[in-house]
Amino acid sequence: MPDRLDLDLSAPPAVPEAAIAAALDLLRGGWLHRYGETLGNSSDAALLEAEFAALTGARFCVGVNSCGSAMFLALLGSGVRPGDRVLTNGFTLSPVPGAIAHAGAEPVIVEITPDLVIDLDDLARQARASGARHLLLSHMRGHMVDMPALMRLCDELGVTVIEDCAHSMGASWAGRPAGRFGRAGCFSLQSYKHVNAGEGGLIVTDDEDLAARAVLASGSYMLFAQHRARPAEAAFARWKDTTPNFSLRLSNLAAALARPQLPLLAERARIWRDRYARLKAALSRVPGLRLPHRPVAEEHVPSSIQFLLPDLDAARFPRFLAACRTRGVYLKWFGAEQAEGYTSAPRHWRFMRDAATPPRTAAVLGQLCDMRIPLSLPAEACGDITAIVASELQAAQG
Ligand SMILES: Cc1ncc(COP(=O)(O)O)c(C=O)c1O
Repeated sequence: MPDRLDLDLSAPPAVPEAAIAAALDLLRGGWLHRYGETLGNSSDAALLEAEFAALTGARFCVGVNSCGSAMFLALLGSGVRPGDRVLTNGFTLSPVPGAIAHAGAEPVIVEITPDLVIDLDDLARQARASGARHLLLSHMRGHMVDMPALMRLCDELGVTVIEDCAHSMGASWAGRPAGRFGRAGCFSLQSYKHVNAGEGGLIVTDDEDLAARAVLASGSYMLFAQHRARPAEAAFARWKDTTPNFSLRLSNLAAALARPQLPLLAERARIWRDRYARLKAALSRVPGLRLPHRPVAEEHVPSSIQFLLPDLDAARFPRFLAACRTRGVYLKWFGAEQAEGYTSAPRHWRFMRDAATPPRTAAVLGQLCDMRIPLSLPAEACGDITAIVASELQAAQG
């Protein structure tokens, strides 16, 4: 076993040469903004939207500047109004309740199960108690709940689903792509996601009013006809004079960087699944470590791995994490007192009226470790990572 892992687990996917060449071409011409009075509908942004719509089988796709903006605009376009309550699962990241707050609405946190997905019984309870009409469902770290069961329940409850697919680009449930169950799906192009454009977001939907409202609110001025994967003029006519411009546009530069990465998604998925399977096989043999169960129907693209340490006292976690980090294995912990890096829990989101982690979710997050799987992770390193985790866990427990 090596003393130290000699690679950076936080490294983003490298930008391929074809994307660099496309970006340079764009820079030389100067057409970085996606619209122009004399431009047609062949900007990189418009082409990326059309390509992503085709990839996911959606009628419409709207590019914006982040997944946070995508979720905000999807909620807005779905009719969420200031003061409304919006359900969301307690295992997610702060931009998710942040998007609800951006729409002037109030998050209602739903419990998760020990397998890290939304608890359907609690969802039914909280929907009835709160009167919420929307669920912003986060497929956090790519974990998908039984989607047909969730959709049946939400139909019964009269709850509209918007999917946060920041961690599930290319994933599916029984062959149906993530983002294609709810009224809209929201994706991220931020560097640590499946496609690295630095920043960016994509909304997919079959709903023409939601799509038209998202295009207009994203800041299309009156140049919405320069979108390709867009609804017909009539939908814009219904909304164009009453929709504010929030200037959350996707830049052509981000789109030019993203487009050549879409055809690479299948190969990236193969690598991530292989590394996840190796880590899972090795970690599942470590005493005192539990991996969440993942159903066969969940075809995930895991750019990270999560595990629970049920026997490790909360007081011993910091020492365990510090020891792993010293040896190059950078783990995150959802039970930390303070929000750290990209990791936080509902009790840290004090912009909410009731900033508390519900009890069963708190119990799960208190044991939950999280590790990024960089695309560049060599297969052989999976055993070294596991050996370091196992030995430091034993030391922390001793
Ligand atoms: C689960 C989840 N949802 C949404 C987002 C927001 O994505 P973006 O950074 O593109 O706004 C993130 C960002 O890391 C995330 O982790």
